[in-house]
Amino acid sequence: MNRLKYPHLFEPVRIGKQYFRNRLFAAPTGWIDLDKEGMYPKDAALYYARKAMGGAAAVTLGENNVDYDYGTGFGYAVRLDNMYSEGPYSLHGLSRVVEEVTRYGAVCSAELIHAGMYGNRYRYPDGKAFGPVAGVDVDGREYYEMPEEIIERTIKKFASGAAYLKSVGCGMVMVHAGHGWLLHQFMSPKINTRKDKWGGPDIENRTRLTVAVLDAVRKAVGPGFPIECRISGSECYDGGYDIETGLAIARIIKDHCDIIHVSAGSHEVEEVFTVTHPSMFREPGCNVQFAEAIKKEVGKDHFVATLGGLCEPEQMEEIIASGRADIVEAARAILADPDLPLKARTGREDEINKCMRCLACFSNLVSTGHFRCSINPETGREGERYALLPAKKKKVLVAGGGIAGMQAAITCAKRGHDVVLLEKSPALGGALRCEENVPFKTRLKDYLDAQAKKVEELGVDVRLNTAATPEEAEKIAPDVIISALGASPVKIPLPGIDGSNVFSAEHIYVHPEDAGKNIVILGAGLVGMELAVYLGMLGHKVSIIEMLDHVSHGGNFQHMKGLQAELDKYGVEISLSTKACAIDEKGVTAEKDGRELKFECDTVIYAVGQRPRTDETYALAACAPEFYPIGDSIAPKNIMNATSQAYKIANVIGTI
Ligand SMILES: Cc1cc2nc3c(=O)[nH]c(=O)nc-3n(C[C@H](O)[C@H](O)[C@H](O)COP(=O)(O)O)c2cc1C
Repeated sequence: MNRLKYPHLFEPVRIGKQYFRNRLFAAPTGWIDLDKEGMYPKDAALYYARKAMGGAAAVTLGENNVDYDYGTGFGYAVRLDNMYSEGPYSLHGLSRVVEEVTRYGAVCSAELIHAGMYGNRYRYPDGKAFGPVAGVDVDGREYYEMPEEIIERTIKKFASGAAYLKSVGCGMVMVHAGHGWLLHQFMSPKINTRKDKWGGPDIENRTRLTVAVLDAVRKAVGPGFPIECRISGSECYDGGYDIETGLAIARIIKDHCDIIHVSAGSHEVEEVFTVTHPSMFREPGCNVQFAEAIKKEVGKDHFVATLGGLCEPEQMEEIIASGRADIVEAARAILADPDLPLKARTGREDEINKCMRCLACFSNLVSTGHFRCSINPETGREGERYALLPAKKKKVLVAGGGIAGMQAAITCAKRGHDVVLLEKSPALGGALRCEENVPFKTRLKDYLDAQAKKVEELGVDVRLNTAATPEEAEKIAPDVIISALGASPVKIPLPGIDGSNVFSAEHIYVHPEDAGKNIVILGAGLVGMELAVYLGMLGHKVSIIEMLDHVSHGGNFQHMKGLQAELDKYGVEISLSTKACAIDEKGVTAEKDGRELKFECDTVIYAVGQRPRTDETYALAACAPEFYPIGDSIAPKNIMNATSQAYKIANVIGTI
C-alpha cells in the first residue's frame, strides 16, 4: 500500500551505503556571514537545520573552500584547510551545523569548491590565482596557468577537505565542477586551451582534473560514501560547450561518483547567470532537459539529479516517475518555503509559499551578506521563531490589505490577537494586483491569492471597500493600529501629463488595451522596464526615457540580468540621461546633453516612482494607544521590505 500522492518523489533511496528519506534534496545556498577564518555562527546552524526540519532528504552546505590560499571565491567562506594544532579552525561552527541538520533526519552534505582563476578576488591585488591558462580578469588582475605542482596540491586539498567533512558527520559530499569554478574552467573549451594532458580540444583531457579529484575524494572517504558531482550539463553561451559535451563529461565521470548533479550555465558569465538561476522569465524546470539527456546516456545504474526553477510537487513527481532524473533538487523554492517537502508529502500543496524567482535572495546576499527572501520573512532569521515571547491578546486594526497589511494580519492572527483588516478596494492584494495578468508574474498572483486565503482562514475580520479613516478606526476602538496604506504613483508635473494619451504604469498593467502601438515610458526603474517587456510581449513598440545615467536605480541587480535579456528580445530602447520636458499628442519632448529630442509615440506611460501615503497614514496615529506605520506607507521599497517589517512588528505586539 502506498498512501502518498507523490509516491516516486517520496520513495526512499539508497546511494552507496547511505539512505535518503526521499528524492527531494535542498541544493546548496551558501551561508557567507562567517568570520574571516570561516567559522559558522549559530544562526547558520538554524538556517540549514530549518531546511532539514521541513523534510528535505539531503541538505547541502554551500561553498566550502578546499584551498584558502588560492581557491577562495568570496571574502567569507568556510575554510576546510585552516589547520591549527587541534584541527581546522572552522571545526566548531561546521560541526554544529552538521549536527543540527542531521538531528532532523536529513543527510548533511557539503560542497567542495575551488574558485580557480576567480580565486582570491577579494584579496586583490595580493592574492594569487591559478586557472587552466594564464590571463587577465575584468578588473585587470592577472591569474596564472596552474602548474603541475599546484594541480597536485589541489587534488590533495579536495581529498583532505572531503575527509574532514566526513569526519564532522557529513553523510555525503558534493564536488562542485560546474557554474564557472575551477573544475568547470578546466572542462570549458573556451577557457582551457592548455597544450598538456590537462586541457586542449580533447574532452578526456579537460575532464582529467575532475576525475582525479573524484578519485582522490573517493580514496579519502572510502567506499560506499556518496559523492555527488555538480556539473553544468551545457554552458548555454556562444563558444561554451553544449549538451553533446555535457554527455561526454557524464560518460567520463559516471564511474567516479555516485550522483551526477546536472545544472547549467555559469555564474561568471553575465548572460547565463539566469540560466544557472532561472529567472521568472524562464519556464519552471527549464534545465531538466540537460539532466534528462544525461540520464538517457548513463542509464539506470547511475543516479542523476536535476534542478532549476522547480517548486511544484506535481512536476517533481513527474520528473522522477518518468525517469528523466532520479533526484530533484531545489534551492530557492526551499528558501521561500523550507516546509515544501513536508507539505507536498502530506497533500498540503496549496499551502506552499512558492518562490517567485525574483532573485532578491541572491541580490541581497551579494550586497549585504545575509539570506533574505521576499515572501518568507523568516529566511535567514530562523532563530527569531524560537525567541518569540508569549503575546498578551490585543485588538489590532490593520489598515490596508496589500502585501505588508496581509503579512501583518496573518502574523498577528497567528499570535492570537483579534484582527480587523480594512481595505478600501474590493479585494486583498494591494497595488501589485495590477500585475496579476502578466505572464512572468503568475507566481506573484499565486502569492497574493495564498496570502489572502491565509488571512481568511485565520479568522481575520476583513472589511473590503472600507477606507481606513479615523472615523472607521474610532468605531473599532483598537488597542493597536498597524498602518500599511502603501504608496501612490508619482505624477511628474510636466506640461501635457494630463493628456488623454498619458497613463500611469498601474493603469496600463490593468488596461493594456488603452495603449497605442508606439509607446514611450518615462522611468527605467523595475516597474517601467517590466512593463516595457509586458507590452513588448503584447506586440507594442516601446522605448524608455530615463533621467539618470543608469537603469534600475538601487533595484535588484540579479533580477536585472534576466530583465535585460527580455528588454533586448523585445527591442526596447532606453535613452539614459534624458529628461522629459513636455508631452503632446505626438509624443514626448526631452532634453539630453543640452539638446532637444523628440520621441514620437501614441501613448506615454509614467513609471517614475511611488510616494508614500503619509497624510492618510499619520491621520490614524492618535486613533489607538499603539500605532505602527509599516512598508511603503513610510518609504516605498520592495516586497522583501514590506513582508519583513510587517512580520517583525506583528511579532512584538502584545509582548512589551
Ligand atoms: C541565494 C543563492 C545562493 C546560492 N549559493 C550557492 C552556493 O553556495 N553554492 C552553489 O553551488 N550554488 C549556489 N546557488 C545555486 C543553487 O544551488 C541552484 O543551483 C540555483 O539557484 C538553481 O536552483 P533553483 O532554481 O532551485 O534555485 C545559490 C543560489 C541562490 C539563489
